[in-house]
Amino acid sequence: MTAYTGTGDRAARGEADEGADGAARRDQAVRAAVEQGLVGPATPIVGLLDITGIRASTAALRAAFDAVTAPGTPVLHAFAVKATPLVPVLRLLHREGIGMEVASPGELALARAAGVPPARTVLDSPAKTPAELREALALGIAVNADNPQELARVDALVRSASTRSPLGLRVNPQVGGGSIGALSTATATSKFGVALRDEGAREWVVRAYLDRPWLTRLHTHSGSQGVPLELMAHGVAETYRLAEEINERAGRRQIDTLDIGGGLPVNFGSDAHTPAYAQYARLLAATVPGLFDGRFGLVTEFGRSLLAKHGIVLARVEYTKSAGGRAIAVTHAGVQVAARTVYAPQSWPLRVAAYDTKGRPKAGPDVVQDVAGPACFAGDLLAEGRSMPLLEQGDYAAALDTGAYYFAHHYGYNSLARPAIHGFGPDGTEAADGAGTTGGTGAAGGVRFAVVRTAQTLDEIVTESGGAHAEALTGTF
Ligand SMILES: Cc1ncc(COP(=O)(O)O)c(C=O)c1O
Repeated sequence: MTAYTGTGDRAARGEADEGADGAARRDQAVRAAVEQGLVGPATPIVGLLDITGIRASTAALRAAFDAVTAPGTPVLHAFAVKATPLVPVLRLLHREGIGMEVASPGELALARAAGVPPARTVLDSPAKTPAELREALALGIAVNADNPQELARVDALVRSASTRSPLGLRVNPQVGGGSIGALSTATATSKFGVALRDEGAREWVVRAYLDRPWLTRLHTHSGSQGVPLELMAHGVAETYRLAEEINERAGRRQIDTLDIGGGLPVNFGSDAHTPAYAQYARLLAATVPGLFDGRFGLVTEFGRSLLAKHGIVLARVEYTKSAGGRAIAVTHAGVQVAARTVYAPQSWPLRVAAYDTKGRPKAGPDVVQDVAGPACFAGDLLAEGRSMPLLEQGDYAAALDTGAYYFAHHYGYNSLARPAIHGFGPDGTEAADGAGTTGGTGAAGGVRFAVVRTAQTLDEIVTESGGAHAEALTGTF
């Protein structure tokens, strides 16, 4: 990756360049996964994570904000655990200096299992129970209350016991939505936060802070994939203005930290890492300069942009056929690993790369074909009518950019098993023969894998499907 220089354009270009390196690493890893038997006739689907790429993205995120914040400004980049809820991934990110944004008891448990300390964890979910709030405050985890009723619960907890938790409120600046309604959180009627432009809401928020000297943070997350950068920055700007107003009315710097959420979109159309963190950070600095002058600490909550480009679902082509003149490759990757793409293909198109039986990139003329999954419904397609080199029996189809919100979000249709996930990185060798002992190609050396998650077994499927209660209905009623 091009070294970050602190000058915006070059930094953004460096992030974009990372895409070409990532594509080369991907080809090596696919070849190695086939050669090492991670995927094959008996294990027809696997998830792969590019550890080098993940590290590069965390470095780019940190550098992008370092370049625009006043020296000494406290900045916590909290990874949105929902994007890739896998303990080894969280541990890796923690080691790379990234905190965690959690939005459920399960996500908090994962962050804790990864060794992330409470002081580097933020709890944000819209439906926190009293028990969850109590635990978070007891641990000292930062909490952003979503609404007035939740704030009343926090009031009671704050009265009953002291806490180290930084506490804030989430607001919805209602600046509008993006191209994917389901991921647009700053619409007029979004379920998240206090809707700031509703009648009386802004004054209510200001009073809520003036009445609670311990409320020191303000939070917004204006949306995810599909929301233009300018709109995200607009949402942050509105939130910043509110913080300034509250501090002015309080006569002190009561709000000391702004949590600006995540949401940087991912380019699912090519290998380029665009938009770059550096681009967004510069846009924010230009739109909201006061946010970066050192008076406010910052929390960010990026998810998709840190992980998506670094994941691949690699699936074997079990059969090929033709129907109505359409070539169809029936693979083992479908709705169970790509639910969003299968159910909403217009919003979530995925690139699919073709590899041959040995895991080498396929060349050849493009043929219009469907890449189908294994599930028993007609819509289970990873790609429909896609022009790409013809997939043949025993080849591999790779669903790209699936490191966030895809294979880590298994959907149990047809009781299809959760596939194993392996992280990959260089094995430190210099493969002189152009192939390497573990699938590397030339000077880059070989590829080493590490298990991130084992595949779900059939016994586990039975157990998780009530296997221990087989007689529950026939024996009770
Ligand atoms: C509160 C909050 N923060 C952060 C994120 C992460 O968004 P993204 O993965 O688009 O960066 C989400 C996504 O739903 C969210 O709801």
